[in-house]
Amino acid sequence: MDMAARVAEAADLVTVALDELLPRAEGPEQRLTEAMRYAALGPGKRLRTFFAIETGRMFDLDDRPVLRAACALECIQAYSLIHDDLPCMDDDDMRRGRPTVHKAYDEATAVLAGDSLQTMAFEILADPDTHRDGAVRAELVLKLAQASGARGMCGGQMIDMLGVRDDLGAVARMQRLKTGALIAVSFELPLIMAHAGEAERHALMGFAQDIGLAYQIVDDLLDAEGDSEAMGKKVGKDAEQGKANYVTLLGADAARQRLAVLKEQTKAHLDPFGPRADFLRASVDFVLDRRN
Ligand code: IPE
Ligand code: IPE
Ligand code: MG
Ligand code: MG
Ligand code: MG
Repeated sequence: MDMAARVAEAADLVTVALDELLPRAEGPEQRLTEAMRYAALGPGKRLRTFFAIETGRMFDLDDRPVLRAACALECIQAYSLIHDDLPCMDDDDMRRGRPTVHKAYDEATAVLAGDSLQTMAFEILADPDTHRDGAVRAELVLKLAQASGARGMCGGQMIDMLGVRDDLGAVARMQRLKTGALIAVSFELPLIMAHAGEAERHALMGFAQDIGLAYQIVDDLLDAEGDSEAMGKKVGKDAEQGKANYVTLLGADAARQRLAVLKEQTKAHLDPFGPRADFLRASVDFVLDRRN
């Protein structure tokens, strides 16, 4: 199976699973559940799902519990994007090729849909259907909460809003929190389910960190040079809003050079896994050569 098909398969699996899990309310709350569904079922790349599923398969886990963890990851991802697009944050009108949630609905609905997707993520992980062992479920909840909150994604978003200037270290830290934390936990949740050993955990978390950083550099390059049609979101926003990132600080060519080095470094983390990691290894080029 080629990589595009493998990623598409993971995307289909999680979208079907999310469709089943997301509520469909009657009455006035219907507006909220529709907005949640609009955001979470939209055509995302489902990369975090792909990482979770591939990690689960490396450790011979059943797909079903990993898929539930992937649903939780995609709920956090959808929530973070709804809020990221709000007028008080990046003020974007398009996401995943469609109007953003506050444009399709309204701001209050967008805030509430984000809130509810966030709590939904933890509801899914805490449910005994996700894992029979309560201690495992508690650890899944803990790790996702840490990755999403003030010391993870939200912290990174705060740094982004305040702006970092002319300091590559500060940009790297922002990106590790803003994007890296949720990508890293996509590997960590299945590692917890698999009771993976310390060495394997360490190797895969090194991989996760590097691919997360590389992923955000690609996002920044695409913001600077990409095509808004293919991206499904407006481009050129970072420079316009004076946001510091790898590309605005280093320039596109130097960012690309950094990316090339980072790609090889990322793959090297998988050496201890041998052929078991073939799909993850092959995914590095696929994920980082993306045009959307
Ligand atoms: C967008 O994430 C925000 C970043 C962290 C760069 P993705 O590019 O993974 O967005 P979707 O989920 O595919 O829409
Ligand atoms: C947002 O980063 C990352 C999140 C935590 C949602 P960006 O603001 O760069 O994401 P895009 O470019 O709008 O997708
Ligand atoms: Mg943003
Ligand atoms: Mg944004
Ligand atoms: Mg961006």
